[in-house]
Amino acid sequence: MTVAVQLHPELRKWVEERLARYPTRRSLLVPTLMQAQKYHDYASPGLMQAVGELLEVPASEVMSVASFYTLIPKHPVGKHVIQVCHNVSCYLRGCDEVIAHLEERLGCKVGETTEDGKFTLVTVECLAACGSAPVMMVDEKLYENVRPEMVEQILAEAD
Ligand code: FES
Repeated sequence: MTVAVQLHPELRKWVEERLARYPTRRSLLVPTLMQAQKYHDYASPGLMQAVGELLEVPASEVMSVASFYTLIPKHPVGKHVIQVCHNVSCYLRGCDEVIAHLEERLGCKVGETTEDGKFTLVTVECLAACGSAPVMMVDEKLYENVRPEMVEQILAEAD
């Protein structure tokens, strides 16, 4: 059963302010789901239903779109989400060492959140920066040519 979610008033306001700039309400779907993370913990089924109602898009379509984007968390996450690419280019250039270092430093495995709720670590298929592999993102910031020794500075920047 889906738990109903009331959209944050600031999110509604954000959407209303942009409606005139988009050709259809539907075209605001991805930006709205991204913006929703500022006011709601994650894209729960209830949140997706509420966003769908606001934008006049069926909930099933909202869920379908959200499932495509790793930047839209569908489960509770920490304050900062760390995404490390583990696809071919990044694998060949040492992403496994970066991932292992992150797991050790954070004290959690891929797919988990640190005990203090500060970081969630996930792996993704590609961050569209294959030419500067290995790459990772912390929230919306991309880091390229990442080496294990860079991890501490990257984590410090997120704080
Ligand atoms: S393979 Fe890692 S960014 Fe594309």
